[in-house]
Amino acid sequence: MSLRQFISTRGLLRAMTAVRNGAAVSWAEAARRLGLGEDLYTDPRHRELPRPVRVLLLGAGNRGSVYARYAQIAPREFQIVAVADPNPKRLKAAGDTHGVAPDRRFRHWHDALAVGRVALGADAVIIATPDREHTGPALQALAMGLDVLLEKPIAPTEAECRQILAAARETGRIVGVCHVLRYSPYFRELKALLDAGAIGQVISVQHLEPIEHTHMSHSYVRGHWRSSQNATPIILAKSCHDTDIIRWLVGDHADNVHCFGNLKWFTAINAPVGSTERCMDGCAVEHECAYSALQIYWRDRKRLYVFDLPEDRSHWSELILQGLRETDYGRCVYRMDNDQPDHLTVNILFRNGVTAGFSMEAHVSYEGRRTRIMGSQGDIVGNMETFTLTSFRSGERKVWSLKTDAHGGGDHRMLKDWLQAVGQRDPKLLSSSIEDSVESHLMAFAAERSRLQRTIEDVRL
Ligand SMILES: NC(=O)c1ccc[n+]([C@@H]2O[C@H](COP(=O)([O-])OP(=O)(O)OC[C@H]3O[C@@H](n4cnc5c(N)ncnc54)[C@H](O)[C@@H]3O)[C@@H](O)[C@H]2O)c1
Repeated sequence: MSLRQFISTRGLLRAMTAVRNGAAVSWAEAARRLGLGEDLYTDPRHRELPRPVRVLLLGAGNRGSVYARYAQIAPREFQIVAVADPNPKRLKAAGDTHGVAPDRRFRHWHDALAVGRVALGADAVIIATPDREHTGPALQALAMGLDVLLEKPIAPTEAECRQILAAARETGRIVGVCHVLRYSPYFRELKALLDAGAIGQVISVQHLEPIEHTHMSHSYVRGHWRSSQNATPIILAKSCHDTDIIRWLVGDHADNVHCFGNLKWFTAINAPVGSTERCMDGCAVEHECAYSALQIYWRDRKRLYVFDLPEDRSHWSELILQGLRETDYGRCVYRMDNDQPDHLTVNILFRNGVTAGFSMEAHVSYEGRRTRIMGSQGDIVGNMETFTLTSFRSGERKVWSLKTDAHGGGDHRMLKDWLQAVGQRDPKLLSSSIEDSVESHLMAFAAERSRLQRTIEDVRL
């Protein structure tokens, strides 16, 4: 067994943590101390692929770019051979970065797929288009014999999710869904401990998804996802990661779901006196508003990727102001056409009797999921950076520190597993089967029905 494989078993990491008697050791720190440049969470089943997986990238926006970056890190595993995006700047940037031939750059996913699999020279497709542009390319790509990596949410309706599941089964192609949290060290360690019975039987789970208030305003009040009709309901768009994670940790099927939630704050009735349609229109309260677009984008320079700014920063100031004048990102958060709830709470009953409570909260100053898992022999309390396991019998407490990035370092690990699954033609290399992914979405659809109709809903794949 190589050192890397030995470390990958995580046993040594746990031992190090335990030896320090409650003090936290981050996995990155442990790796550094051992002089190990490699990822501790690499799957030992991974092999060197005979050639890179050749991919058609559909959607070169935020998520598409995150995945595409991996082609530069691991060119022997992953090559982008074609790209489609109607945004000319993004199309050019992705095409140039990855050396895509001019006749392999397209303005619509439809045009790219029309070329055909062999002529494209692609093995697989990454679908990172907007939520309402997932089903069409997914079904067509599967019918053409391409493997698929599909951004979540799988599709905006339950019927479409089932259609994609049926097509995946019929064609036998590999379909990965970007449930990136499953690949974070934090959730991997939690899952491994639960499976090893570290807190006995799981009895119940409490899970909180704090969206952080300006993230909420950016994506779900001003941004593309503000409309549940144009995108998908927020329980799907934001929280299908959480229904998936809870289901995965519990390790059983959900039976029933119930949800309360509404849009309470980001509405016209809460618009302050003196506020204007746009923050730059002479709003009287701009300097005291937590959602001032001038503050967030122009002064603090946060979340700027939506403006497609050039690398040369010399004109950024005026370009951001232009963006605030011309796009939705400069509009008042109280005068939008948004309908996504800013708080919701979901109760889930699993087939094995475990109950889970899940809350999604916009009105918070922090991000990072919070988890409490109650077991028959102990409990776990975590915040996506560290978690503490306490044994009831001995009272002993152990702390794990697993701080990484916003997705817990899961983006590229997830992509790597998918590339390995495609390259080795083995869907078992994926953490989540398409069945599991669809079921996590059915939980979210059931929650949304419950929220709208005040019912308790069944979940049946
Ligand atoms: N896994 C996650 O954690 C995660 C996080 C954020 C977003 N998402 C999902 O990823 C998807 C993409 O989100 P994003 O944040 O990258 O959005 P984005 O707007 O940054 O990128 C989407 C891109 O698709 C392009 N596009 C639109 N229509 C197209 C078409 N017909 N053909 C080809 N390209 C087209 C757009 O021009 C844009 O560049 C969405 O479904 C979103 O919900 C997933």
